[in-house]
Amino acid sequence: MSAFNGLSLEGRTALVTGAASGIGRATALLLAQSGAAVVVNHLGRAPEAQSVVDQITAGGCKAWAVEADVSSSKDVVRMLAQLAQMPGLGPIDVLVNNAGIIQEKPFLETTDEDWARMLSVDLGSVFVMCRALLPGMVARGHGVVVNIASDLGVLGRAGFAPYCAAKAGVIGLTRSLAREFAPAIRVNAIAPGPVETAMLSPDSMSAETLALELDIPQRRFAHPEEIAATALFLASDLSRFYCGQVLGPNGGSVMP
Ligand SMILES: NC(=O)c1ccc[n+]([C@@H]2O[C@H](COP(=O)([O-])OP(=O)(O)OC[C@H]3O[C@@H](n4cnc5c(N)ncnc54)[C@H](O)[C@@H]3O)[C@@H](O)[C@H]2O)c1
Repeated sequence: MSAFNGLSLEGRTALVTGAASGIGRATALLLAQSGAAVVVNHLGRAPEAQSVVDQITAGGCKAWAVEADVSSSKDVVRMLAQLAQMPGLGPIDVLVNNAGIIQEKPFLETTDEDWARMLSVDLGSVFVMCRALLPGMVARGHGVVVNIASDLGVLGRAGFAPYCAAKAGVIGLTRSLAREFAPAIRVNAIAPGPVETAMLSPDSMSAETLALELDIPQRRFAHPEEIAATALFLASDLSRFYCGQVLGPNGGSVMP
């Protein structure tokens, strides 16, 4: 058996989608702290993405910010062409599919557009990014994919049917890709519980939903860094026998 490299990502390049804020930002920073060169994807948030890059480069690692709507195949193809031109940037070894949106709306008021948008961003982006990056990983004979699902993909939540359906889909997609691309490429998911980010704030959710989210054994929201720690584990060699798993840093919201 070859030796473990521990949590070190030295010599690897990671791409984190939706990395200008929240869990994505914390993940980009932690992967870089562990030695990875990091591509910080964002959508319309150039200053925030640049500040993540600046923080990483100040710590002595390489990072690049790149804009793309990861739910759009066309935009992702354009982004990859742009990345191919960036000096010093190698092929992507670690893909973290983190970008996501949420919407609270009673099911009977949910429009075709609401449904299509949620499925396209929260599930379609994982399909689009994996289809774009897996061929390179297959050709190189290695790669890691970490998909950010949600505990709500397992629990369900009134007022969030499209989100929960999309996140349940991420879990199914993860398991299918894990089977199809093992052993060379490891595909796993994280299903976080409530995390202190813009997504879980009075701007995006009712007080009733926020109270429900807090009603878990740990009685607090996670810090984004606590989810990033799971992403680092799944990206690293320490998790090399994990395949198609869904890890749950969730404060006890789900106990499988
Ligand atoms: N906050 C929580 O409680 C929680 C719980 C479980 C799962 N999650 C999941 O974690 C992930 C990150 O969310 P967060 O909580 O950090 O919130 P967040 O809103 O800070 O992060 C989401 C990021 O995705 C980006 N994004 C949205 N659509 C995009 C697109 N089409 N292309 C590129 N980027 C796009 C946003 O600009 C934002 O930076 C999401 O997938 C979310 O569903 C969050």
